[in-house]
Amino acid sequence: MIPMVDLNVQYRQLQHEIDGGIRDVLEKCQFILGPNVAAFEAESAEYLGVPHAIAVASGTDALHLALAAAGIGPGDEVITSPFTFIATAEAIRYVGATPVFVDIDPATFNIDPEQIEAAITPATRVVLPVHLFGQPADMAAIHDICNRHSLLLVEDCAQSFGAATHGNRMTGSLGSYGCYSFFPSKNLGCYGDGGMVTAATADSADRVRVLRNHGSRQRYHHHVIGFNSRLDEIQAVILRAKLKHIDQYNSNRRRVAHRYNELLAGLDLVVPHEDGKGRHVYHQYTVLTPHRERIMQKLGEQGIASAIYYPIPLHRQEVFAESCRDCSLPVAEKVAEHCLSLPIFPEMSEEQVSTVATVVRESFA
Ligand SMILES: Cc1ncc(COP(=O)(O)O)c(C=O)c1O
Repeated sequence: MIPMVDLNVQYRQLQHEIDGGIRDVLEKCQFILGPNVAAFEAESAEYLGVPHAIAVASGTDALHLALAAAGIGPGDEVITSPFTFIATAEAIRYVGATPVFVDIDPATFNIDPEQIEAAITPATRVVLPVHLFGQPADMAAIHDICNRHSLLLVEDCAQSFGAATHGNRMTGSLGSYGCYSFFPSKNLGCYGDGGMVTAATADSADRVRVLRNHGSRQRYHHHVIGFNSRLDEIQAVILRAKLKHIDQYNSNRRRVAHRYNELLAGLDLVVPHEDGKGRHVYHQYTVLTPHRERIMQKLGEQGIASAIYYPIPLHRQEVFAESCRDCSLPVAEKVAEHCLSLPIFPEMSEEQVSTVATVVRESFA
């Protein structure tokens, strides 16, 4: 059996630290927004090279709170990728704004900067790139577009903790806000739901902090309508333990991906493309192939997991039918038809990688 991700190995490696930290939380009985959350915020801000990090309850909330803190609302348009998890666009709708989907680059699956400019209208307020599968979007080009058109840049970093863009800057450190998910299977994951917003200024960080805690700076004093979106201490203990090893985890993911590339060479499938502008951290290892049903079936017969991220691009989802009557985004549609993700996690052994690759090879025989 080879799963998409094996979370147990990391727990076993860090068990002493995690169990001890959780016991400490249980004994001290401070469960929400306590010292571990504060320390985790400071440690991740330092790691990411950002001035402010605010831990929240999920990656979806991180996107929602960032857009709300930026004052985005009805009548505003947010340009984003159609090839992502639904949460990216849900958050745009939560604040009453309109998602505007533009097509993706066929090699990186990230939003194509060349398509962004044509989609800008007087209502456009934000560009929201997703660093999909751990590969940074083309941030030099997107940053430049945002500067020239005075647009806010909000980054969806749910899949890219520790990925670097041009100039070795971390994803999430270029925009006004960076939005992270700590869903268990993410590159940095906790044991429940969790998320974080990074903010470029003290003012914007303060707005997110107020929004995550019922619109309040001081207990029982409420300035705006906010939300309950706080990270708990137990999750912060787990994230602090894992954050110390994130570079190792990410470089192991790169090792697995590069090994897959070697073992799958010469088949009728396209292995992931690194654009060379930053550091890809392989949240997913996703190939393109017209033969994915056959490959998935063979893998399944051998007890090997595989997955389709994502089978339907967002502009084709029923929920967005209204906002996208005539739009055709051929690259996203083709990628959705041919994409196939193989198991990848930092602790994957050489034997596991070669077993998966051998079964993929055999499915072409
Ligand atoms: C690209 C992307 N954006 C947003 C999210 C939402 O994160 P969460 O599940 O923590 O709410 C996820 C993950 O699920 C994601 O992959």
